Amino acid sequence: MHHFQYNKGELFCEEVPVTRIAQEVGTPFYLYSYATLRQHFRAFDDAFGDVKHLTCFSMKSNSNLSILRLFHNEGGGVDIVSGGELFRALKAGMDPNRIVYSGVGKRAEDMEYALQSDILMFNAESFQEISLLNEIAGRVRKKAGLSIRVNPDIDPQTHPYISTGLRENKFGIDIGRALEDYTAAAGLSHVNILGVSCHIGSQLTKLSPFVDSLRKLKNLIGKLDEAGIHVQYLDLGGGLGITYDKEEPPHPKEYARAIKAELDTKDLTIILEPGRVIVGNAGILITKVLYTKVTEEKTFLVVDAAMNDLIRPSLYGSFHGIQPVRGVARGNIKADVVGPICESSDFLAKDRELAAFEPGELMAVMSAGAYAFSMSSNYNSRPRVAEVMVKGNGFDVIRARETYEDLVRGEEIPEFLTKTGR
Ligand code: LLP
Repeated sequence: MHHFQYNKGELFCEEVPVTRIAQEVGTPFYLYSYATLRQHFRAFDDAFGDVKHLTCFSMKSNSNLSILRLFHNEGGGVDIVSGGELFRALKAGMDPNRIVYSGVGKRAEDMEYALQSDILMFNAESFQEISLLNEIAGRVRKKAGLSIRVNPDIDPQTHPYISTGLRENKFGIDIGRALEDYTAAAGLSHVNILGVSCHIGSQLTKLSPFVDSLRKLKNLIGKLDEAGIHVQYLDLGGGLGITYDKEEPPHPKEYARAIKAELDTKDLTIILEPGRVIVGNAGILITKVLYTKVTEEKTFLVVDAAMNDLIRPSLYGSFHGIQPVRGVARGNIKADVVGPICESSDFLAKDRELAAFEPGELMAVMSAGAYAFSMSSNYNSRPRVAEVMVKGNGFDVIRARETYEDLVRGEEIPEFLTKTGR
């Protein structure tokens, strides 16, 4: 369920006509529905309501401060992967005790920052990292909460770029050698072993890979118990998919049911790191058609958003629904939706049956709440677009459109280049 609906041929976000926002904010912009975000968070979190758990929103999917604040208000935490994400999370008012830190390449200074901020735990991905963490923790007189991210060697059956739990992937510590590393970590003075974690991939549409990896993790927890290492947390990562086109992923309730059916202890607190399933269908990208270009080969709708704003179609060949903001009845065309960037991979849709858009018309690119703004860049010196949140019959700009001045912030021309005669 989401709150982007037509009313008399006009697309609304909750009670606000999208056209009205476009008039005030200009295009392109990302548009999020507060009610949808809250509803998706609750649907997920409530599904685990009867077990001890912590929903740590995976903020790489969308790191806007207002969105983080909303989930904080709902009792959630975050999964972070960098010092920058930690900074954002704290700025949004997140409770450090609800922050888990994953990532294969944690830098020493970021670990120190996280230790000083008293985050809940580090999901470590190599023994080298654990040793460094122990060393830094000792130096700053802290004890690092530790969980080892294991690689369970499970095929998540998703796009290869977003598969992370196969032995060939760079992520986690091979489950076969995890016991050895846990035992070694147990001997370190400044780490406190708290949990076991994993994350096998993203946009999963089946339950079986989740269940298979949970079984492997349970087996490991059993072995750890035998070795006298008792963990309190089991972090299952994120990965639950959404419907972009015709996918039929399980509902969070079914996902939770499958996981709970495998849990035979009440002692563990389950940590979940959902990203896409919460925000993916809670946001859309609004863009304006600039030109309709008909060539011998094809029809192109040239719009004012581009691959720098939404890179998923170019990077993964992802499908995003395309809808007119004013859905008046008219003929259909087959077209590519392309942006102004100087690359042939700059498309938002390819060979798509679409309403016959005219120049000046607004277009909604659907399912653009996850890995959309957060993956945007300034390529072609394009200022990053505005982000807007609607609540009921009002809206707020939650991130201003960048200006041309923003584009050059921090750049300086050294004197030797500005001296005349050179
Ligand atoms: N936890 C960890 C450690 C992760 O690496 C990820 C995503 C998540 C949780 C959240 O996964 P989700 O619930 O959103 O599936 N840019 C790609 C997706 C990359 C996902 C990376 N890791 C895309 O646009 O499809």
